Amino acid sequence: DGDVYKYYADGEWKKSSSGKTVAIINPTTRKTQYKVQACTQEEVNKVMELAKTAQKSWAKTPLWKRAELLHKAAAILKEHKAPIAECLVKEIAKPAKDAITEVVRSGDLISYTAEEGVRILGEGKFLVSDSFPGNQRTKYCLTSKIPLGVILAIPPFNYPVNLAVSKIAPALIAGNSLVLKPPTQGAVSALHMVHCFHLAGFPKGLISCVTGKGSEIGDFLTMHPGVNCISFTGGDTGIAISKKAGMIPLQMELGGKDACIVLEDADLDLVAANIIKGGFSYSGQRCTAVKVVLVMESVADVLVEKVKAKVAKLTVGAPEDDCDITPVVSESSANFIEGLVKDAKEKGATFCQEYKRDGNLIWPLLLDNVRPDMRIAWEEPFGPVLPVIRINSIEEGIHHCNASNFGLQGCVFTKDVNKAILISDAMETGTVQINSAPARGPDHFPFQGLKDSGIGSQGVTNSINMMTKIKSTVINLP
Ligand code: G3H
Repeated sequence: DGDVYKYYADGEWKKSSSGKTVAIINPTTRKTQYKVQACTQEEVNKVMELAKTAQKSWAKTPLWKRAELLHKAAAILKEHKAPIAECLVKEIAKPAKDAITEVVRSGDLISYTAEEGVRILGEGKFLVSDSFPGNQRTKYCLTSKIPLGVILAIPPFNYPVNLAVSKIAPALIAGNSLVLKPPTQGAVSALHMVHCFHLAGFPKGLISCVTGKGSEIGDFLTMHPGVNCISFTGGDTGIAISKKAGMIPLQMELGGKDACIVLEDADLDLVAANIIKGGFSYSGQRCTAVKVVLVMESVADVLVEKVKAKVAKLTVGAPEDDCDITPVVSESSANFIEGLVKDAKEKGATFCQEYKRDGNLIWPLLLDNVRPDMRIAWEEPFGPVLPVIRINSIEEGIHHCNASNFGLQGCVFTKDVNKAILISDAMETGTVQINSAPARGPDHFPFQGLKDSGIGSQGVTNSINMMTKIKSTVINLP
């Protein structure tokens, strides 16, 4: 019937007074794997109050001490990689090896953030007034970076550990407190991760983790007057949050339709390998997955054959067996993907493999000759289904990429570096990868989406900066 987990507040593990729980369905077995507390609005109020109080003394804790605690948490997290990875396998069907990688990468991210934090928060600016016209040298301005207060972190199901620590670590090093609302699927992995911060010995109330139903506490959290900044990664919910949130900084990453533009001179073996990695790792459930291939007609047949041969080699099955393709996160997600596939079928796309589904498990599928009237040309399946659109000019490829509402990443494959840079400049996306599939990492690189793909920029340094404000003190000389 599933183990029941407590939520974390005031440095303790607690049961919700609601007496209710939320079930977490294992995508593979489609049975309840775990249960988490359905926290109430009063519990959220309490957590916010504690976070506000704890933040005041945390901001006065020396920077090196904050860094030391983060390094400790990173080490503990890495020690606990096996049980956390096991939860990732059970809750979100992440292949076992990738689950371990997620935890280790998260430990590294925390340590890097601690190091980066002591450097960039350890220095401010000193300005003098007489560089601006009309001023004498009578004003000295000292600036430093101060915390915002309480940060609300909402990570998505696909990286419930990594995309939580990418918000927690910068928030804490900068002197903020943090309230985490994990995704339902991924909540237990997140609670285990929070336990590592608990073991590291952070002050009570500084970090809390509330679980529950979005309908009960979702809006209540994001519109809570105690929240000073929201860092969110996920889907359309982010757009709704941005409309409702108050006058606070928002950091948002909301998915993409990352295009892969392939020119005639590209190394097609390299392209095929990157389409497989980019399009099908974690069964396409990454915001940075390759979500549409835009290939020049003259090389399309050869490329499609190469990709087909590699798709045939992908293993399909359980995450415990470390298969390449594992069940997608939920039945509704599988149904949505199936809807896109059916629409493409009706409108005449070429199926490179037979469409096959068993429960939440969808076999990898490459769709050739996709046209702009098909939904799959524009919508993100978040599953192992990849459309190929054949183009007759570079302009056509750029046009398709830029006609999307999304603008997260894109990639271009060519041996002509000049062309690659011109195409990169023309693509309206936050990042363009030349000769590799899109990816967020390494985690200190800036990561941002244009248009509906997000607000602000992430990556270790950018996240620390966006979770702080500049404070100036001006000394006026006689
Ligand atoms: O799903 C969104 C993630 O930020 C993508 O990260 O490129 O490391 O898979 P990734």
